[in-house]
Amino acid sequence: MENISCSIYVLFFLIALLLYYHSSLKKSKWTNLQKAKLPPGSMGWPYIGETLQLYSQDPSVLFANKQKRYGDIFKTHILGYPCVMLASPEAARFVLLTYAHLFKPTFPKSKERLIGPSALFFYQGNYHSRLRKVVQSSLAPEALRKLIPEIEDLAISALELWAEKNQTINTFRVMKKFSFEVGILALFGQLDAKYKEELNKNYSIVEKGYNSFPTNLPGTAYYKAMVARRKLNQILSEIISERKEKKTVEKDLLCHLLNFKDEKGKNLTEYQIADNVIGVLFAAQDTTASALTWILKYISDDQKLLETVKAEQRTIYESNGGKKPLTWAQTRNMSLTYRVILESLRMSSIISFTFREAVVDVEYDGYLIPKGWKVMPLFRNIHHNSEFFADPQNFDASRFEVAPKPNTYMPFGNGAHACPGNELAKLEMLILIHHLVTKFRFDNDIIFASKFITYIILSGKSKFPKEYNIAHSQYLSMDSLLGSGRKQEAKETPRKQMPPDKN
Ligand code: HEM
Repeated sequence: MENISCSIYVLFFLIALLLYYHSSLKKSKWTNLQKAKLPPGSMGWPYIGETLQLYSQDPSVLFANKQKRYGDIFKTHILGYPCVMLASPEAARFVLLTYAHLFKPTFPKSKERLIGPSALFFYQGNYHSRLRKVVQSSLAPEALRKLIPEIEDLAISALELWAEKNQTINTFRVMKKFSFEVGILALFGQLDAKYKEELNKNYSIVEKGYNSFPTNLPGTAYYKAMVARRKLNQILSEIISERKEKKTVEKDLLCHLLNFKDEKGKNLTEYQIADNVIGVLFAAQDTTASALTWILKYISDDQKLLETVKAEQRTIYESNGGKKPLTWAQTRNMSLTYRVILESLRMSSIISFTFREAVVDVEYDGYLIPKGWKVMPLFRNIHHNSEFFADPQNFDASRFEVAPKPNTYMPFGNGAHACPGNELAKLEMLILIHHLVTKFRFDNDIIFASKFITYIILSGKSKFPKEYNIAHSQYLSMDSLLGSGRKQEAKETPRKQMPPDKN
């Protein structure tokens, strides 16, 4: 009996100790949070904050200057929101990976409506991770290797079409068309031309409205975009019905989405499928087209580099007798070209930063990130920091002979929302470069003669920009060197007046 009461006392004592420890831990967390101060930085004018500076300066320069002045973590106020900017790899990892649950993805509602509110980008937790698995599995290497011959066909026919024109073309515009076609292939497999055309037409209208002022007034770009977005739902619904009727078994993303079942065994609705299809297409197109455009700029800027890329690709081309399709192993064996791609992605940092929103007060490195504040990991600043990349403004593909330090290289993001399309993007870039440098001559003098413009995806009062891109106003003129595998004399390309920059 004595033994039992003694054990009960010990148990009570242990529970009390545990409770005390827990409450003091909570208290100390709370006092730490209370003690934590906001990061250094300036918030600018009331309400408008530093938005004007953002619009009047190159954002990369603005953020680089702020980092120099305040350090790797600084606050600002832009586009109606207080923000904490994070320019260190550790801080980016904290937000995107280790404590990702404390920071939710954030998009302006007007943009969410256009992409589709059920698209995976906007979610955290179960719905997101289940959908992400579906998207990832249809874009995994095992699925992609089967697409090589079709991606090659798309690359060759695109290049031949551009060369046929025998005139200066807008590189970004044509790369966009190419990445759209590859996106469609990954999403739908072989798709009827009439659907492709309809999707392209309506998708372009949606894109035009994406950065316009969101209003439902008929005639405005946003209104037209919403109408086109509804039309896209109809087209997708027709494609789905046709597929169900024909009972075709494909291994593309649409098929994976159609077979999706949640934990209760429920399928996705047609709206959810449409939102995710449009979402993936949206994520795939401009990013890959920008990357390809920058790659062409970098290789055409440096003749020696171009020659080494050509030599690598020519060896592969010749080993195939110029005729056979590329194999998966060959695409994996383009090490120099691959490093050129990695370095181009670092230099251009197409997605320069991303956004999250703190869902609770968070303390990081002694600083407070208040609930509701936007948090922006600055990929570009990290990619251009000499501590991680020596002589960062210099294009040097050989730096990737050694793996970069952990969390310093994030062209495709990091953590739960990191890009599931990165392998496809790299594959289509390798394939396009292979055929471009082995079969075509592109004119170096004229390429990228027009100036680069930095622009930001503008947002109105209630909005927040998703990202800013470095613009794509480069022009390429080229002609075919090897028509159907046979060498021809390179022709002189007639020079055309540069079209005005549209961006
Ligand atoms: C060079 C080309 C590309 C670049 C630089 C790029 C970059 C990125 C980055 C940085 C993110 C993360 C954004 C964030 O954390 O907020 C992302 C997400 C995403 N990307 Fe890409 N991307 C590229 C191509 C593609 C392609 C080809 C596809 C699909 C075919 C794709 C589909 C997606 C999707 C679906 C997400 C959202 C993932 C999620 O929320 O879980 N991307 N991309």
